[in-house]
Amino acid sequence: MSKPTVLLIGPLAHTYKAWEALGAKYILLEFRTGTRKQFLENCRNGTYAAVRGCYRSNVSTSVTGPFNQELISALPESWKFIAHNGAGYDNVDVDACSARKIAVSSTPGAVDNATADVGILLLLGALRQAHAPLIALREGRWKGEPRLGHDPAGKTLGILGMGGIGRAMAHRARSFGMDIIYHNRRRLDPSLEKGAKYVSFDELLAQSDVLSLNLALNANTRHIISAPELAKTKKGVVIVNTARGALINEADLVSALESGHVSAVGLDVFENEPEIHPGLMKNDRAFLLPHLGTSTYETQREMELLVLKNLEIGVDEGKMLTLVSEQKGLDWAPEQANS
Ligand SMILES: *[C@@H]1O[C@H](CO)[C@@H](O)[C@H](O)[C@H]1NC(C)=O
Ligand SMILES: *[C@@H]1O[C@H](CO)[C@@H](O)[C@H](O)[C@H]1NC(C)=O
Ligand SMILES: *[C@@H]1O[C@H](CO)[C@@H](O)[C@H](O)[C@H]1NC(C)=O
Repeated sequence: MSKPTVLLIGPLAHTYKAWEALGAKYILLEFRTGTRKQFLENCRNGTYAAVRGCYRSNVSTSVTGPFNQELISALPESWKFIAHNGAGYDNVDVDACSARKIAVSSTPGAVDNATADVGILLLLGALRQAHAPLIALREGRWKGEPRLGHDPAGKTLGILGMGGIGRAMAHRARSFGMDIIYHNRRRLDPSLEKGAKYVSFDELLAQSDVLSLNLALNANTRHIISAPELAKTKKGVVIVNTARGALINEADLVSALESGHVSAVGLDVFENEPEIHPGLMKNDRAFLLPHLGTSTYETQREMELLVLKNLEIGVDEGKMLTLVSEQKGLDWAPEQANS
């Protein structure tokens, strides 16, 4: 029997040796740079006829474009596994994959700590209104116009989306003396709550001093925070987003920030990144980072290893370690090894 074929799409920064080692049992193909047109041509002219699964990443989207309906329908019949590097996978059309019985995995877990670290950096940066003094210092004006920030202690942190990242955020915030409330599609098992209180979405909006977004972007959650929801928040609320920019209607957020209803924001993600709303750029109560959530050596490496592991166990055993949640329990879906 010939070796199964697997394909690497886009770059692999930290684990190329581990990929090469897979050559002992697979035929390795690579499409590290190129265009969508060439990729589709490879799908159609037989180059990928034996491919069983691929490694792709958010970064490889710039090589192939999104894994949308058009691209998924061009994949050869043999292709059963897409191992995606990223906790978010909005550039993979999972429904189109499910229709073709192609299993998709993502990298939850590996990103939790690094993303929550950035969440706390944003939370403190926003509470302390650190942006203006950072600029002043570099301009030789020391503190600039001195202003007072706020302590996290005794404040209520409202977490929207209590998955791994939300819980890592809660874990850190507790050590700053914050009270934690959360809203999620369903209540967590109490053993995972660690004292965090489950509340309705409206209660979360009404009670949070700091509101942190830690949920996935999909059709139901796009613009989940817009003008009507902002109107239900406390005056002076601080909003932190490390998840996806389009969870928030950015123009509505800018209005609420300019009116002072929202006192500060800490954002790592933007609705049309890398473009940023000019109202955020010019507002010195906006503490902004350019999507650094998982940008650490340790985390990038962990993520790559997890993707390779998903690909390997997919091809070898017909399972995936971290199948995307939309596919769990589908009658054709591979089982989940564990996670
Ligand atoms: C398939 O198309 C690609 C991209 O145009 C090309 O590089 C490759 O040589 C083609 N392969 C075959 C077998 O025709
Ligand atoms: C992933 O890619 C999308 C678009 O391709 C982009 O909007 C998003 O910022 C990227 N996320 C990361 C973590 O690079
Ligand atoms: C995240 O940090 C916790 C300690 O706070 C640790 O137990 C856990 O293993 C870490 N998770 C990952 C994926 O590194």
